[in-house]
Amino acid sequence: MPYPYVLLSAAVSLDGYLDDTGPERLLLSSPADFDRVDEVRASVDAILIGAGTIRADNPRLLVNSPERRAARAQAGKPEYPLKVTVSGSGDLDPDANFWHTGGEKLVCTTDKGAERAGTLGLAADIVPLGPDLDWRRLLEHLHDVRGVRRLMVEGGGTIHTQLLQQGLADELQLVLAPLFVGDPDAPRLFGPGAYQGGRLRLTETRRIEDVVLMRYEPTAPGTGPLPSAADHHWLALACDLADRCPPSRTAFSVGAVIVAADGTELARGHSREGGDPVVHAEEAALAKLAPTDPRLATATVYSSLEPCAHRASRPKPCARLILDAGVRRVVTAWREPDTFVAGADGSGLLAAQGVEVVVLEEYAERAKAPNDHLAG
Ligand SMILES: NC(=O)c1ccc[n+]([C@@H]2O[C@H](COP(=O)([O-])OP(=O)(O)OC[C@H]3O[C@@H](n4cnc5c(N)ncnc54)[C@H](OP(=O)(O)O)[C@@H]3O)[C@@H](O)[C@H]2O)c1
Repeated sequence: MPYPYVLLSAAVSLDGYLDDTGPERLLLSSPADFDRVDEVRASVDAILIGAGTIRADNPRLLVNSPERRAARAQAGKPEYPLKVTVSGSGDLDPDANFWHTGGEKLVCTTDKGAERAGTLGLAADIVPLGPDLDWRRLLEHLHDVRGVRRLMVEGGGTIHTQLLQQGLADELQLVLAPLFVGDPDAPRLFGPGAYQGGRLRLTETRRIEDVVLMRYEPTAPGTGPLPSAADHHWLALACDLADRCPPSRTAFSVGAVIVAADGTELARGHSREGGDPVVHAEEAALAKLAPTDPRLATATVYSSLEPCAHRASRPKPCARLILDAGVRRVVTAWREPDTFVAGADGSGLLAAQGVEVVVLEEYAERAKAPNDHLAG
């Protein structure tokens, strides 16, 4: 199931706090950065915050610029993004600013929380998501039922921690403010728990008055059948690599990336790379690694087209090469059509040997694009 693109946004003190413990909200951003946040809000379909932030900050969560609201309306969007809050208890203050400003509102909650919230006369749709709140179900609901394609999450720490730890955040926009809080009782951005093992990818740094904006992308592949946000990024890269293939009338153009469990890129390849007229993408990538590399056993192979199961040009098809390398997880965008081989089923071959094969069909069009000349 596709999810919205999930963008986490937060400002922290130099010692990593989101707020102090005083009754007023601690202003961490600079005026120009608040305007940047307004711009990001104007670019998304929905903004989500936890019930704790409604209680602590009583925010309105608006797009403040009339020009940005007008541009949204002109583009056929609602003037304000949908406002979403998450609550397990359903214990929400009906007088909070959240309900009385902006456009449509949604409470995502548990079955029990929905009973409680339903008695409060909130100006919002209430969505029960089962006995416990499942983030994947919530994202599916926003995508499929509410048409949300870009979701901005504005805290607090409990929410950011869960989305990052569950591999559901596509991007973190973090602003570092030049002040200290120094109070161990103050809320932190990220709580304890299991995060991805390796390093995130730093995609941008920007000075905005006296604060610094840093943008990061998680890199760790998912585990098992559930795709992580990073799986999407890596598969998109594999599709981009397919664009680099020298064109051929007799073979597909495919890109592949091999990524370690901690998010380190191990190797990449594409069809007909390096002047080899028959090399396949997965084969080219695997050839760059020692067969004994211990990281292969927990790595994920991303391939724009599923690994081949039959092949005339070389003794071993790519599905066999992947099995021999000991890789246990493959993410692909497109199942092989009958263009060159009837009934090719590389995914089936891999799955029969216990490899987890995840197909992200939302990337199929991108994977097919460099092969359009083979249609029919
Ligand atoms: N500096 C910044 O950028 C920034 C941004 C936002 C917030 N903040 C600060 O962050 C603090 C609030 O953060 P917080 O961590 O206490 O609260 P929070 O993350 O905003 O909200 C936590 C609440 O969300 C609900 N919730 C979260 N996960 C849930 C789950 N899996 N199932 C069911 N319900 C769930 C629960 O609501 P119920 O209690 O109703 O069950 C929980 O108490 C405030 O001090 C605020 O000022 C700072």
